[in-house]
Amino acid sequence: MVAYQIYVRSFQDSDGDGIGDLRGVGSRLDHLAALGVGALWLSPIHPSPMHDFGYDVSDYTAVDPVFGTLGDFDALVEAAHDRGLKVLMDLVPCHTSVEHPWFTERPDFYVWADEPNNWRSAFGGPAWSRHGEHWYLHSFYPEQADLDWRNIEVVHAMQEVIRFWLARGVDGYRVDAIDRLLKDPGLRDDPPATAPFGLPVPEDSAALALTHSRNAPDIGTALAAIREAAGDALLVGEVYLPSPLLKPYLEHLDALFSFELLHARWDASELGAAIAGMPDGRAAWVLSNHDFGRLATRFGHHNAGAAALLLLTLPGLSFLYQGDEIGLGEGPGGRHDRAGRDRYRHPMQWDATPRGGFTTGTPWLPLVDPAERNVAAGSPTLRLVRDLIALRPRLGDELELVEAEGGLLLLGRGEHLIAVNTGDTPLPLRGAGDPVLESEPGAAAGGRLAAHAGAVVKR
Ligand code: GLC
Repeated sequence: MVAYQIYVRSFQDSDGDGIGDLRGVGSRLDHLAALGVGALWLSPIHPSPMHDFGYDVSDYTAVDPVFGTLGDFDALVEAAHDRGLKVLMDLVPCHTSVEHPWFTERPDFYVWADEPNNWRSAFGGPAWSRHGEHWYLHSFYPEQADLDWRNIEVVHAMQEVIRFWLARGVDGYRVDAIDRLLKDPGLRDDPPATAPFGLPVPEDSAALALTHSRNAPDIGTALAAIREAAGDALLVGEVYLPSPLLKPYLEHLDALFSFELLHARWDASELGAAIAGMPDGRAAWVLSNHDFGRLATRFGHHNAGAAALLLLTLPGLSFLYQGDEIGLGEGPGGRHDRAGRDRYRHPMQWDATPRGGFTTGTPWLPLVDPAERNVAAGSPTLRLVRDLIALRPRLGDELELVEAEGGLLLLGRGEHLIAVNTGDTPLPLRGAGDPVLESEPGAAAGGRLAAHAGAVVKR
C-alpha cells in the first residue's frame, strides 16, 4: 500500500491558531481517500515543549493541546477507519524530552556518565550535556535525553505506551531513530572512521566509525520487546544505517525506510543501486520527508512527475510526504528548527488563496506558492499520483532491476516495465510494448522515453 505522511503541524488548521491539528486532519480525509492511499502516518502528536516539534515527548499517553484532545484523536481514528484508511503513529522510544517527569523522577531511566565520551549528536556537536554533577546522553538535541533501554523498567514503560495506542485502534507505528536504541554498554568511544559511513552525517560524525554510539550487537532484544507489545501491528523502522546493516532490524520490524534511495541523486545508476540494495520486499520506499527535503526541490520540478512514478511503482510499502502529490517544493523556512529543517515543513496548499486554505489565522510558517500549486486546482502531478496508486495493485509482486545506466532506469514488475529517464535527452525503450501510464502525455511514444519522464509500459 501507499502510506501518506502527515506532518500534522502543517497539514490543516481547524481553529485559526496557524498550526495544523487533528480536527484539521479529519476534515481532509476525503483528499486521502481520493488519492487512494491505504494509510496515514501522523508525525508525533504528544505533549511536547516542541524543541524538535514533538520528537521531544513529555507525555506519551496524551495529545498536545495544540493538536487537540484524546477525543479528537479517537474521532480521527474512527473516521479514517470508516474510509478504509489505516492509522500509523510515530513512536519515539529512543529519547524523551528533558521535561518529561521521568527525567527528574526516574534518572535511572536515562544514560549517564561522569565524563562524556566522544559520541556526537545527529545534528553535530557532542551527544552529552551536563545536568548537575553528571552528563546525560542525547543522540539528538540536548532537550532529548536518551532512554536507557538496558533498564527493563524502561522497556516495560514503552511497551505500555505501545499497547495504550493500539487499544485505541491504531494500526501500527513508524518507529523513530531505532538504530540509537541500544549502544555500547561500556560507553566506549567511537573509533576513528576508516571508511565512509554510507549515508550523509554531519562532519564530526563522519570522522568516526559510528560503531559504539548506535546499533549495538544485541539490538534484537529491544526490538523483540517492541514487537511483543505491538503484536501483529505494522512496524516501520526508521533505521539510519547503510543497507548491509539492516538485517537484525528485519527480524522484528515489518519494513524499513530506504534511506539510500532518499539520499540518491536523480541518476539512474544511483537510484538503481539504492533500490537493489534494499532487502527484498521489506522496504518502505521514500523519496521525501520532514527531515531531508522535498523531492520536487531535490530533483527539480521538471523531474517531479517521474520521481512520483518511480516511488509509487515500487513494490510493498511506499511513503508519500504531504504536498508531494501537488509537486510542492521547499520554501524559505523559518527560525524554528535549529537543524534547518523548517524549509521542508511549509504548510499544505489546499487552494489558491494566500493562506492556501491551510488556516484562517497566521500560518506558523508561510505558504510557499499556493497560487501556483494547490489541491483544488488539480495538477498533472495530482492526477498522475492518483492514477499510479490505482494502477499499483496490478503490478506484479516481484521487482527486477533490468537496467540502470546511461540515464535509463528500467525495472520489471511482472508483465510491466517501469522506465525512468533521469537524463535530458530522449532514450530508446527497447523491449517495451504499449504505455500503460506516463508521467506526461506521449512520454513513451514511438519506442522512446522523453527526457525527465517516466512510464509504465507493457513488456
Ligand atoms: C527522527 C525524526 C526527526 C527527529 C529525530 C529525533 O529522525 O524523523 O525529525 O529530529 O528522529 O527524534
